[in-house]
Amino acid sequence: MTRGFRVACIARQCSSEQRRSSYRSMADAQKDPAMDEPFLSNLDLFLFLFSLIAGLIVYWMVFRKKAEPIPEFKKLESTPQTTRDTSFIDKMKKTGKNIVVFYGSQTGTAEEFANRLAKDAHRYGMKGMSADPEEYDMSELSRLPEIENSIAIFCMATYGEGDPTDNAQDFYDWLHEGDANFSGVKYTVFALGNKTYEHYNAMGKYVDQRLSELGAQRIFDLGMGDDDGNLEEDFVSWREQFWPAVCEHFGVEATGEESSIRQYELKVHSDVNMNKVYTGELGRLKSFESQKPPFDSKNPFLAPVTVNRKLNKAGDRHLMHLELDITGSRIRYESGDHVAVYPINDSVIVSRIGDLLGVDLDTVISLNNLDEESNKKHPFPCPTTYRTALTHYLDITNPPRTNVLYELAQYASEPKEQENMRKMASSSAEGKALYQSWVLDSCRNILAVLEDLPSLRPPIDHLCELLPRLQARYYSIASSSKVHPNSIHICAVVVEYETKTGRVNKGVATNWLKNKTPTDNGHKATVPMYIRKSQFRLPFKSTNPVIMIGPGTGIAPFMGFVQERGWLKEQGKEVGETVLYYGCRYKNEDFLYQEELEEFEETGVLTELNVAFSRDQAEKVYVQHLLKRNKEAVWRLVHTDNAHIYICGDARNMARDVQNAFYEIAEELGGLSRAQAVDYIKKLMTKGRYSQDVWS
Ligand SMILES: Cc1cc2nc3c(=O)[nH]c(=O)nc-3n(C[C@H](O)[C@H](O)[C@H](O)COP(=O)(O)OP(=O)(O)OC[C@H]3O[C@@H](n4cnc5c(N)ncnc54)[C@H](O)[C@@H]3O)c2cc1C
Ligand SMILES: Cc1cc2nc3c(=O)[nH]c(=O)nc-3n(C[C@H](O)[C@H](O)[C@H](O)COP(=O)(O)O)c2cc1C
Repeated sequence: MTRGFRVACIARQCSSEQRRSSYRSMADAQKDPAMDEPFLSNLDLFLFLFSLIAGLIVYWMVFRKKAEPIPEFKKLESTPQTTRDTSFIDKMKKTGKNIVVFYGSQTGTAEEFANRLAKDAHRYGMKGMSADPEEYDMSELSRLPEIENSIAIFCMATYGEGDPTDNAQDFYDWLHEGDANFSGVKYTVFALGNKTYEHYNAMGKYVDQRLSELGAQRIFDLGMGDDDGNLEEDFVSWREQFWPAVCEHFGVEATGEESSIRQYELKVHSDVNMNKVYTGELGRLKSFESQKPPFDSKNPFLAPVTVNRKLNKAGDRHLMHLELDITGSRIRYESGDHVAVYPINDSVIVSRIGDLLGVDLDTVISLNNLDEESNKKHPFPCPTTYRTALTHYLDITNPPRTNVLYELAQYASEPKEQENMRKMASSSAEGKALYQSWVLDSCRNILAVLEDLPSLRPPIDHLCELLPRLQARYYSIASSSKVHPNSIHICAVVVEYETKTGRVNKGVATNWLKNKTPTDNGHKATVPMYIRKSQFRLPFKSTNPVIMIGPGTGIAPFMGFVQERGWLKEQGKEVGETVLYYGCRYKNEDFLYQEELEEFEETGVLTELNVAFSRDQAEKVYVQHLLKRNKEAVWRLVHTDNAHIYICGDARNMARDVQNAFYEIAEELGGLSRAQAVDYIKKLMTKGRYSQDVWS
């Protein structure tokens, strides 16, 4: 669909270009003085017209068929390469697949689940493939019944205000606007979300309902995965009921045990040109050496770190302010956007994995997909070394999922260890409880698993095949592009905690960023980054008041907002009230950006600076308490003055507590019932006057 549109645009562009050139030649001709004098005699003109007509008749008779104009876009659409690439139906038919698992995924979980479901199909005598909706022509879904016993499974994550992931956006728009007929299409949906968000699993619910409205047949109930609880367990439990339902539906029997099938084969490169080996690039080889815009998730910009300072004056945490230089990158951002950074794993953990598995991490390898029809040729850029894969491409610090434990279990030589690994991957109550306590509650990463199961020594290439990809981390930009067009500011807290096993786990990105000092042994320290646009925006009219609520690192986007309001004032614009509710533990310890904020208050850019110091007194005081304390002023701003409300920071507790505070204020000062107050805030959200930028 997209390709067709693009080609049509190119065609349109060509014809307008032709029109422009013919206008140009007419104009040129009009300016030519020679045009004033006739240069053809009447005879010449007659002969010319005669030969022209005769020529045209011959041409029409001989070449008529060949000369039929073929629009350029048709030629492109019929190219076999293009058709094969975007047609999932053709691919399924060609490779004998009857299950297609689409995923809407931002940080890889839904994609992982889709891959697992596609692999599962084998156990039931079926064949599955996972598919990115962005890569295929989704209008083909209505053709799925052409394939016998076929099912489309959708693993859909939700983001923002109930929005689809980037790769599912076009599919969502098409479903929303279209009126396809899906009769005969069999489907099921597993939704991935987090209960702490207002629009819990909104995308999964939407796709489930919309497919049914368009005539598709739901063959198993919508699965609801909650990342705030145990998403893995939700998925495993749903899956265990889903497959028997599919078997019953089609009258087939499971062929046997879950089997371990390798998806990639190892190739060791003994004699390789090191210039052809990936060293951490996400897309194009050598893209880190020769940087070329535009910069995005596949082509991040290496931004030099120009400032890295500790923000807190005391305490055992480390809160930091970083500035990334984007001069010359052509990167543009708005206050409220996010910057995504690609971190790298701790070299100590990488080396330790290599030591435990007894491998030379500098071996150059490729993992090649055994399915030659797959769009994904390798699990990460190849050829590369094991060290690069474990450092740049693979997630080695999150607790491994149950399928990883299941597949690795075959390499545990000690029967008890093998049994426990299989148990944790099973759907039995005992197995789930063991996985919860031994892996999740104990925060065991793959290194801790290898250390604590001494008989488990898998081949490193299989481990690399199973581990998920290391994901970029997002940070709410703490600067305004109006004031800082060439730099992007980050405000972050370093993650470090002790686990139940006595190990100290360190957050990948924040510990890596902490050590990014502007000059690193004489070299500029750089960070691979790109911008992710958000909906978190200051009001269009600067005269609208704003109430910003952002405790802790939730202050980040508001540093940008306040800078921007100050800049608008400097430009002579009228700016509405700018009210900030900020929170920290102790005034003398972690009052981030104290000097800057107090100066904004003194100069009148900030009309109110309300700070909740939670631990400076016996009673805990949080931002929601201050909002309630100032309820009259808050209600006036919201109800009478059309203020826009912004909340940033912790999704789990703070965002919910603040929302409750608004309900209470609306009840008390607006004379509303709780249901009406809830409705009141919902309406503000719909109008874009209650926005959240929260994470958990
Ligand atoms: C849209 C968005 C905007 C964000 N903006 C900001 C921002 O402005 N500033 C900011 O600091 N962060 C922000 N974050 C969070 C940020 O992206 C990272 O998640 C955070 O910095 C941690 O990354 P890390 O790689 O250091 O930690 P990771 O290696 O990812 O480790 C973090 C994980 O460790 C675990 N964990 C952490 N503490 C404990 C504990 N005490 N006990 C047990 N387990 C624990 C949790 O599972 C947690 O998810 C934002 C996130 C999103 C999605
Ligand atoms: C910034 C952010 C916003 C989110 N918004 C929502 C939401 O509105 N509703 C919801 O149910 N889950 C929300 N989630 C949770 C994700 O959908 C969930 O973690 C999911 O497992 C992510 O899948 P993925 O890794 O495939 O992208 C959000 C998560 C983040 C980090």
